[in-house]
Amino acid sequence: KKLIIINGPNLNLLGKREPNIYGSLSFTEFLEKIKEKYPNVEIDYFQSNIEGEIIDKLHEVGFSFDGVILNAAAYTHTSVGIGDAVKAIETPVVEVHISNTFNREEFRHQSFISPNAKGVILGFGLQSYELAIQSFLD
Ligand code: DQA
Repeated sequence: KKLIIINGPNLNLLGKREPNIYGSLSFTEFLEKIKEKYPNVEIDYFQSNIEGEIIDKLHEVGFSFDGVILNAAAYTHTSVGIGDAVKAIETPVVEVHISNTFNREEFRHQSFISPNAKGVILGFGLQSYELAIQSFLD
């Protein structure tokens, strides 16, 4: 299986950013552990703070990879463009969030990704990503 995790804006700061909400582990540390735990799964990683780069990456992987795990971060709530890209590609996309966006501010309750996602996993901290990986394994 060939999967990719795509992280949106500010997620490069994981570990340093609001650790009470997002935890104190950096994403690279987390990814190393995950790759060790799932040695038979190819897990690519891409992070960008730029909306168009996320769209370009979805186009690049979206017709050949087996799965996309997408945390579009703040763009989740604003980006019609990323939502359309998720709809345009063939590879199934699982939307993930570290925090439970429904017990936070109202503006985080809307997602342009969810209507076109295969499923949504949120609120489990970094474990949300692992659950998304598992959803692509049979
Ligand atoms: C987030 C939730 C978003 O509302 C927020 O803008 C983020 C991270 C999460 O993983 O909990 O940057 O996607």
